[in-house]
Amino acid sequence: MPETIAVLDFGSQYTQVIARRVRECRVYSKIYHYSTPASVLRSENVIGIILSGGPSSVFARKAPMPDRGIFELGVPVLGICYGLQLMGRLLGGTVARSSHREYGHGVLKIRRAGRLFAGLPRKLRVWNSHGDKVIRLPKGFSAIGATENSPYAVFEDRTRHFYAIQFHPEVFHTERGTEVLRNFLVGICDARQDWSMKDFIAQATQNIRSTVGDSRVILGLSGGVDSSVAAALIHRAIGRQLTCVFVDNGLLRQDERKTVEELYRRHFHIDLRVVDASRIFLSRLRGVADPERKRKIIGRTFIEVFEKSLRSIGHADFLAQGTLYPDVIESVAIGDNPAALIKSHHNVGGLPARMKLKLLEPLRELFKDEVRRVGLALGLPKEVVWRQPFPGPGLGVRVLGEVSQDKLEILKRADAILQEEMLASGWYWRVWQSFCVFLPVKSVGVVGDERNYSYVIALRIVESIDAMTADWTRLPYALLQKISSRITNEVRGVSRIVVDVSSKPPATIEWE
Ligand code: XMP
Repeated sequence: MPETIAVLDFGSQYTQVIARRVRECRVYSKIYHYSTPASVLRSENVIGIILSGGPSSVFARKAPMPDRGIFELGVPVLGICYGLQLMGRLLGGTVARSSHREYGHGVLKIRRAGRLFAGLPRKLRVWNSHGDKVIRLPKGFSAIGATENSPYAVFEDRTRHFYAIQFHPEVFHTERGTEVLRNFLVGICDARQDWSMKDFIAQATQNIRSTVGDSRVILGLSGGVDSSVAAALIHRAIGRQLTCVFVDNGLLRQDERKTVEELYRRHFHIDLRVVDASRIFLSRLRGVADPERKRKIIGRTFIEVFEKSLRSIGHADFLAQGTLYPDVIESVAIGDNPAALIKSHHNVGGLPARMKLKLLEPLRELFKDEVRRVGLALGLPKEVVWRQPFPGPGLGVRVLGEVSQDKLEILKRADAILQEEMLASGWYWRVWQSFCVFLPVKSVGVVGDERNYSYVIALRIVESIDAMTADWTRLPYALLQKISSRITNEVRGVSRIVVDVSSKPPATIEWE
């Protein structure tokens, strides 16, 4: 077990952000349910505990409470926001209900830097979001920082190494927040800061070997970042015991299948089986224009094809998946914590249970940025590791309305030109996604002296942090002009290009 910082989750929407910030300081962190018994934390090499914020009031009837034993473990504790109120209340101070919430920016004045604010200025702009506040400190504590609204915005017990802060050091809006956290980790918990992706790879390959033994593992490779990194990692651990299955559903981008074959077969020497199922997907999509129905058909057909391909591969014991940490965290559902609602873990439709396969999920402890670093360390190219997201239903939801081979061909060629120009100009790496959408309308054009009616292609290029919100990218006119003239000149059947200038919300990123 690596040295671990336990983040006890009291339902804050920022719990995951705290865990990430800790790992950015190269210290391993893990999120625990708020009620986790102290004995469990003791057995897991926990060297410090962070109590997250949360939407509750400590006065609420069902206020989430930690095991009081965490204060007896002899490890440092940092309470953030709700965590501060908890420490105030549980350790013998007085907390008062507040009639109004302090929300947004505030100025924190630090009276005594101590270890927590070592090396930081005496005034910091911080982000607050709390209702109750501590009005009398518990025994052994002294106040070391105040905001306009609260004389006890930061307090510490230097003997027991307990620290409580009312603001959120983990959010971007707090000035030098990461340094406050680093001071807690390094200056107070004595963390070694040696959690690295190299260690992760060594540890993970060992775990995979001992879990798998001499059994066979099957992995559905989509070409996306997560399944690619999982494949490379498992292959490093068990070589030819891993078989990857790549389903060509006919809705892939130009040359995608060839690129996957080149990389995994030629470069990594992975046992890769490519299943060409484009005919069956396209025939089932014939005559279907409704987006939801298209998605369902594609999803169902995928499971069917994948399952059938597993049978032909022969016996295996494990199904590997590129599940990440945010997919597995059971967010604590308190109030309207949005993190609790955004849980996107999806197995391949209950397949593992039906086929009596055990799941192997070697990335389930990692955040996305860590997965990318693991990928690079394993020798995956930048183009794979920093690939833009591509939806499961593929071009099936980018040809609007009914899908046909002809329309797909047009879209693939237009999209390939867009990607070429995005890569050549370097813009590909700066945006969240850039793709073409096929619009099934014909508009008039002139070629020579003749009027002809051909299709319209929309360019969708967006910036985003997490796909929850997005804004359209202001590409230079010269680049747009080049993309537009290349597509209309090189792709038959297209004579008009439009640019999508809608943000999300209200529009979504995809058109269907
Ligand atoms: P929207 O269109 O909802 O998309 O703004 C948000 C992000 O999700 C991707 N997306 C999908 N990914 N299966 C996926 O794996 C899907 O069915 C799907 N639909 C949308 C989309 O590309 C964007 O990054």
